[in-house]
Amino acid sequence: MTEFLLPFLGRMHPVLVHLPIGILVFGILLCFFPQNGKNPLLPSIRLAFLIGGIAALAAGLSGFLQYQFEGFAWEDVQLHLIGGVITAVGSFGMYALVKNTEVLSTKIRVFAAVLGLILGITGHWGGNLTHGEDYFTEVLPADLQSLLGTEIQPEKGPQLTEETWENAQLYAEVIQPILNKNCKSCHNPRNRKGELDLSSLAAMRKGGEEGMVLTAGDAAHSMLFARLLLPKEDEKHMPPAEKNQPSKKEIALIERWIKSGAKESGTLAAAGISKKQIERFILKNEIPFYPISELAPLAVDSLADLKEAGLFAEAVESGSGLLKVTCINLPTFQDSDWKILASVQSRIAYLDLSGTQVTDALVSQLEALPNLTVLKLNSTGIAGNSLNNLAKLT
Ligand code: HEC
Repeated sequence: MTEFLLPFLGRMHPVLVHLPIGILVFGILLCFFPQNGKNPLLPSIRLAFLIGGIAALAAGLSGFLQYQFEGFAWEDVQLHLIGGVITAVGSFGMYALVKNTEVLSTKIRVFAAVLGLILGITGHWGGNLTHGEDYFTEVLPADLQSLLGTEIQPEKGPQLTEETWENAQLYAEVIQPILNKNCKSCHNPRNRKGELDLSSLAAMRKGGEEGMVLTAGDAAHSMLFARLLLPKEDEKHMPPAEKNQPSKKEIALIERWIKSGAKESGTLAAAGISKKQIERFILKNEIPFYPISELAPLAVDSLADLKEAGLFAEAVESGSGLLKVTCINLPTFQDSDWKILASVQSRIAYLDLSGTQVTDALVSQLEALPNLTVLKLNSTGIAGNSLNNLAKLT
């Protein structure tokens, strides 16, 4: 009949913790009021640390019960718990120090300040436990968050490769990443909306407030899937309407996974998933547009020389040794002017000779540009007879 009592007291922890915080902060502040000789505030200060200590003890005990009954992990709570014990001991210590004194010594004031600091840190750790470590930073502007290094990188979702996707694990490499991307922000060990944690299979199997969310083999009766299909207006629709929604293919994959038994192991091929269903998760090998070059960036002086000659030249990308060269402001540029560029030949990746007077005779020079990637020859003297030779360029 009374077994509810201890868990219930544990749940009083979030209520009780505010007592020592308020009372001790009050006592600590009183310690810093100016005093001339005998300190008239001492009776209040003594009372504050005595009651504050008792309140800290009560908060600590209820906190311990909450840890026992609510499934918190020791690694998560240990600092907060130790901080709580130090705060309680510190409060009684302060009481002992001020009990028989008439004036507050500097030593006592330093103790009070340290106690305040410990109280603050302990409270902050407790807040992290209930609200998550990103509670404060979450609402800051993105720029400020990245400055503080607390920006949460969006989860990428599944990432498969062309060669190995068939042997990829359906749950670990596809389903969990889909849930991480769409659901984890609200359903994780720290933030369990609807009492549901979707960050691991073990947690999913525990279900949520309304019971089981997975029925192996039966997607329609698995809340984890069924809620995705509800009309968006339905307040039970998941994820909540204003949030990013999983794609149709992602929903279909979740369905397939549940129908194939909602198992931890098993490949995509074994679950009968076609390439079409997962195509968008296959990583494309991105080929850079310009050749990869070992050349160090061109010296600023040399770049300035080119500009002085009337050409426009810059690195194709910052830090690259390859150049983008444009002769658009130099309509008089002709074959014999090529010598200006001779020293940077190996660097030219983008060359715009449009509107200049170059002729077919220049093409043999162009053939020798190892990194040439973009070439523009509009409105020049080039007739095109020799352009076939450029086919040799890699
Ligand atoms: C923005 C926060 C948010 C996101 C994102 C979110 N949910 Fe929820 N979810 C909630 C809230 C709040 C509840 C509790 C209220 C309710 O039951 O509707 C809940 C409840 C649930 C429940 C019912 C749990 C129970 O037993 O009562 C399921 C199942 C669920 N969500 C699945 C999902 C899935 C699957 C996703 C991702 C595709 C998801 N949710 C994404 C906020 C979210």
